[in-house]
Amino acid sequence: MPDLRYVPEQRLWLLHTPSTVYAVGLDDDDNVRHLHWGARLTEAQIGELARRAPAEGSSFDTAGGPEEFGAEGGARFGPPSLQVRFADGSRGVEWRYAGHDTDDGHLSIHLDDRHYPLRVTLHYRVHDDSDVIERWTSIANTGKKIVIQRCDSAAWTLPHRGSYRMSHLVGGWNSEFRLRRTDVPVAETVFTSRTGLTSHQANPWLALDDGSASEEHGEVWSTALAWSGSWRITLHRGPTGRTTWTGGHGHEGLTWTLDKGETLRTPVYAGLYTAGGFGAASRAWHAYVSRHVLAQPAETRPVLYNSWEATGFDVDEAGQTALAARAARLGVELFVVDDGWFGKRVNDHAGLGDWTPNPDRFPHGLRPLADEVHRLGMLFGLWVEPEMVNPDSDLYRAHPDWVLHTAHRGRTEMRNQLVLNLARPDTAAWAHAWLDRLVADNDIDFLKWDANRAFTEAGWPGHADPDRLWLDHTRAVYQIMDRLRADHPRLRIEACSGGGGRADLGILARTDQVWTSDNTDPVDRIGIQDGFSQLFPAQVMGAWVTDSPNVATARRTPLRFRFHVAMAGALGIGGDLTTWPETELKEAAELIEVYKRIRPAVQHGTAYRMAGDGTLSAVGYAYQDQFVVLAWCPSRPFGHDPAPLRLTALDPAAFYRDTESGAVHSGAVLRESGLLLDLPKGDHASAVVQLIRI
Ligand code: GLA
Repeated sequence: MPDLRYVPEQRLWLLHTPSTVYAVGLDDDDNVRHLHWGARLTEAQIGELARRAPAEGSSFDTAGGPEEFGAEGGARFGPPSLQVRFADGSRGVEWRYAGHDTDDGHLSIHLDDRHYPLRVTLHYRVHDDSDVIERWTSIANTGKKIVIQRCDSAAWTLPHRGSYRMSHLVGGWNSEFRLRRTDVPVAETVFTSRTGLTSHQANPWLALDDGSASEEHGEVWSTALAWSGSWRITLHRGPTGRTTWTGGHGHEGLTWTLDKGETLRTPVYAGLYTAGGFGAASRAWHAYVSRHVLAQPAETRPVLYNSWEATGFDVDEAGQTALAARAARLGVELFVVDDGWFGKRVNDHAGLGDWTPNPDRFPHGLRPLADEVHRLGMLFGLWVEPEMVNPDSDLYRAHPDWVLHTAHRGRTEMRNQLVLNLARPDTAAWAHAWLDRLVADNDIDFLKWDANRAFTEAGWPGHADPDRLWLDHTRAVYQIMDRLRADHPRLRIEACSGGGGRADLGILARTDQVWTSDNTDPVDRIGIQDGFSQLFPAQVMGAWVTDSPNVATARRTPLRFRFHVAMAGALGIGGDLTTWPETELKEAAELIEVYKRIRPAVQHGTAYRMAGDGTLSAVGYAYQDQFVVLAWCPSRPFGHDPAPLRLTALDPAAFYRDTESGAVHSGAVLRESGLLLDLPKGDHASAVVQLIRI
């Protein structure tokens, strides 16, 4: 039972997680002040913190200590978590504490405006098996119309320290999840997506440390927003060292009107304090995602085949059937037909929106292929892009008003497509209906749900509160996915947005894995996967082995290296198997066998990122009595074999047997001196080692 405590004499709340404490308290003006987020402190010690008077400011500074949810109004000059305008034009908020509720790990602190019909509730949830604290906000109107200019999920505060460093993920299409670590400037740093999607460019995950944390040591505060549309996080370090950040859904400039009786609930913004470095932070996030986000964490993700890189838009029954036969021979467990199976979709210029099988390509519909895939012992999956439409489609000709658009403005096409406004109930109902029918009629086990462009001209002519669509579109996507899953319990979904453009804790609550990136070059992937692993577990990281030379980078790499890199996630095959020689098909089948042996450790184990010297990097997975290592060395100069890889997660008192060579190693030696890797000569060397504790 999670431990939430209220101390009435001091008006403070203590939230205990297994190894951390989070504490907040009310000041004399009923503002909720942040007191502590970190290592365990006792109630008395938190009380001592609460009694500390905030540093004296000047008449030019924010008054008082850091707030849990700083609203615009009064002497507050930092980035606000809440900005509202009331019906009479007045802005700003003055709080009156209106009580709190606790319910099985969930604390709700209610705050009413002293004059206006506004109630804000700050929500906190803790679990007894995780140090992650979930926070969100609800904002309710009990009177005249209120315009919300900003309503974040939460603000987070760090202890006052000399300096801080931020770790965040940046990128673009084909280069997602690049980890960057830089000092936090004395400034407001904005991380945001204005694309209507989580985005390739920035991910709403952020980690802060005082500059001294490493992979294995040091304090790290990290947060992740569970939202798949536009978002904004503003990190503020003031000249005197106060460091806070506030974040939530929506980007700057959007407003939402709250009518009488309406409540807006923000997505969860989750936070985690760890004392064991970036590695421990990632492991705690992975465990949290598995225990509290994913619908089916215990399920092993199947080895998948996807036709996209092999065939592009040229999919038809004969070609897919031939690929399926080859895939089944290799040991593939899920066969996914990608783009090109419907309407007039023979390239990206037409057909999107017309979700009936192309009769030239699938004369009897998809069912014969689905049945054949099932007969071959595989699950059947299909690519869909329900939020989009090509203007050259029957759907758009019938419903030109269903897309996001603004009066007197053009309709910007990207990848020759427009975005459907799923905030419209009719559009959302249409999307749900055809998806539901498609899944049922074709016995579909898996959908790859794609979204291949950003929002533009995101208006809704005639609607009284058009910016709502930025929230309601994403919510509609969630609702459709939730409903499909509820009605088709075997259905699994892959989140995709031109690769990893929609990877976040919100989408993962209703999808089972993420298509990490359209870039399948294994050397590039090492970096992409490293960034992805900061927050997300290997189980949800779709990773394909494709052809060499790579279609994006033209780099040539050996099959074994491509496999070893892709084995670090949910393995897929995406090459043109009809062109692979028998020797490669045989090698691929063997490597898939290897993956299936190590898969429980990769998908259900605890991951340890390890950096070797030079360009060597590795990930180890601890699972029951096993420790599996995947190591990659893209290049090395003559005479510079990487040093042994230290496996610091092992038990020094135990002995481990290498299942391949039979060699027995002492845990102490593997920890202190390291594992000697048997890497082949040349570039793109890699190894997989499975150790069993004896
Ligand atoms: C996106 C996806 C690809 C593929 C194509 C199909 O780019 O990321 O994997 O599905 O769309 O058009």
